[in-house]
Amino acid sequence: MPHTARQILVTSALPYANGQIHIGHLVEYIQTDVWVRYLKLNQHEVYYVGADDTHGTPIMLRAEKEGITPKELITRVWGEHKRDFDAFGISFDNFYTTDSPENQELSNEIYLNLQKNGLIAEREIEQYYDPEKEMFLSDRFIKGECPKCHTPDQYGDSCEHCGATYAPTDLIKPYSALSGATPIRKKSLHYFFKLSDERCESFLRDWVQGLAQVEATNKMREWLGEGAEHKLSDWDISRDAPYFGFEIPNAPGKYFYVWLDAPVGYYASFKNLCAAKNLNFNDWVKADSTTEQYHFIGKDILYFHTLFWPAMLKFSGLRTPTNVFAHGFLTVDGAKMSKSRGTFITADSYIQTGMNPEWLRYYFAAKLNASMEDLDLNFNDFIARTNSDLVGKYVNIASRAAGFLVKRFEGRVLDSAMNVELLQTLRAAQSNIGALYEARESGKAMRAIMELADQVNVFIDSNKPWDLAKDPAKTDELHAVCSVCVEAFRILSVYLSPVMPNTAAKAYAFLNIGAQNWDDVHTPLQSANAINAYSHMMTRVEDKQIDALIAANKTEEAAPVAIAAPTKAAPAAAESNIIGIDDFVKVDLRIAKIVDCQAVEGSTKLLQLTLDVGEATTRNVFSGIAAAYKPEDLIGKLTVMVANLAPRKMKFGISEGMVLCASGNDDGLYLLEPNAGAQAGMRIS
Ligand code: MSP
Ligand code: ZN
Repeated sequence: MPHTARQILVTSALPYANGQIHIGHLVEYIQTDVWVRYLKLNQHEVYYVGADDTHGTPIMLRAEKEGITPKELITRVWGEHKRDFDAFGISFDNFYTTDSPENQELSNEIYLNLQKNGLIAEREIEQYYDPEKEMFLSDRFIKGECPKCHTPDQYGDSCEHCGATYAPTDLIKPYSALSGATPIRKKSLHYFFKLSDERCESFLRDWVQGLAQVEATNKMREWLGEGAEHKLSDWDISRDAPYFGFEIPNAPGKYFYVWLDAPVGYYASFKNLCAAKNLNFNDWVKADSTTEQYHFIGKDILYFHTLFWPAMLKFSGLRTPTNVFAHGFLTVDGAKMSKSRGTFITADSYIQTGMNPEWLRYYFAAKLNASMEDLDLNFNDFIARTNSDLVGKYVNIASRAAGFLVKRFEGRVLDSAMNVELLQTLRAAQSNIGALYEARESGKAMRAIMELADQVNVFIDSNKPWDLAKDPAKTDELHAVCSVCVEAFRILSVYLSPVMPNTAAKAYAFLNIGAQNWDDVHTPLQSANAINAYSHMMTRVEDKQIDALIAANKTEEAAPVAIAAPTKAAPAAAESNIIGIDDFVKVDLRIAKIVDCQAVEGSTKLLQLTLDVGEATTRNVFSGIAAAYKPEDLIGKLTVMVANLAPRKMKFGISEGMVLCASGNDDGLYLLEPNAGAQAGMRIS
């Protein structure tokens, strides 16, 4: 099917460089990647770029807390993000950083052009300022008493107790969440993008018509207001030093607000790719470019992508996005992802638990559609669907037919069987499945593919190759049936390949064929090309893997993405290693009874302890005390354990806590033991 190749630039939102990639993020990167892979299989010229979003106050403070520079932090996190994306098969053509020379240059250029167009305003504003930290405080870094219900320690924009919203200046007894100091009001010159300008508004009113999603169009209408209403206010794009970001041209001490340079980071990443690939960057971004440009985002950042970003581009003389595709938020087992429940699952923990990334890719693809609806990862459903669809329906087709073909027919298909009705049906579904992929209706696409797989399994069940194999008179029939099966398996593999590229690659290796394009479904296997012996393609998900995954993510710790704001002001303590009682009580110390203790096979250092801490089930803890104690000497003893330490996956299993030992430089190890009378499960304070 000859077609004209389209030129398409695709992006996913740039993850913040201060936290780990988690399964919520993966919804987006998997959705985008599936779409990109589908378009590439159709031989369009597609570039998929991403980057880390590296600037702003939270990243600056996070680095400070870790005692490293922001550059050191973002370099490390970049490596972690890259590792996770690679592990999940996210096929970025370039994964870059917003802290790049290209980004600085492009951000400056866009800003200066907006200024030239009269769309930058300078205005003095008054804000809260932390005199100790010597920095301005955004709403999330100011706390105080709610002006309505008088609950203490509420954030600067709303009260978690009564739900009231207010300005930070309304808070009673405000204090800085960073230092505890009482903030002062201070004036400063800020730079604004004049979004309220008539030109911006009329451009955006027009632009909104082209959005692919009705929900997005409706949101935009709400933001823009109807008729003569003017709802857009100017956008504050500057921040005062100290700030980790780009200094604004001709404005010393003023920095671009992170959301100004973040979307420009899409272009910076692409520009960097263009240099490497010898592409003409300008052809893609100039106002009259004929290329397509799509941004995949979560619904929480719609405002930035459908108002600020297109307006920035338009009025700096560049092309605007062809479309923005927003998706909903992921919940796990019906609830928001939670660290204490162990459902804030990091990409890395999933890989470390030994789970197959393509199970998750398939599950998300099966649940996603083109809307902004939220989606749920339900673990029972995940196990059932992955096992039944992928192993039970798809992989099974190959494993049921390949043995006979290899043993009885030298692995060669019967050419005359390659056009039977069933295979024609499978091939005829190509355009429908393709259209569903293109429309981001991957859930419907997966259903259509699994219906085809069902038909193939019905074909196997009614033709019973295992019976045919017993009757020498039916050799030809057996040959035909098995040939149809492996060809059907090939076609289904092509259909699934945008979602499961690794599995498809294994399938092609087994079938002894090269990588397949979308249109290759019409080019059948040939007898000249013998298939290889079938080797196991995919295992089933097991319940215990999900248990291990949740255990590995269970933690009482504060979110790594958020800077933990102290609930009480403790400015003096912050400077030394003295902690307050608030910090101490975070450690859940308990009396533990060692109900069992075993040597660990393969380790000379570790003992495996089974501990009773007064809970419904015992805890499994590995401890490096094998040199100091014999297992049998410890059984029945009481000791002290840290009960709320995040579980750790070790080579030998998961360790669910830590027992406490005293040690000197080299005078051995001494397990703590309480005085007589202490009982398993007692808290220590
Ligand atoms: N840095 C900004 C984006 C800048 S784009 C120029 C940001 N980063 S983020 O790390 O918070 O989120 C990255 C993407 O992941 C966003 O599109 C966000 O909506 C998405 N998700 C984060 N958590 C999510 C879920 N729980 N579920 C689905 N998507 C989620 O926003
Ligand atoms: Zn309140």
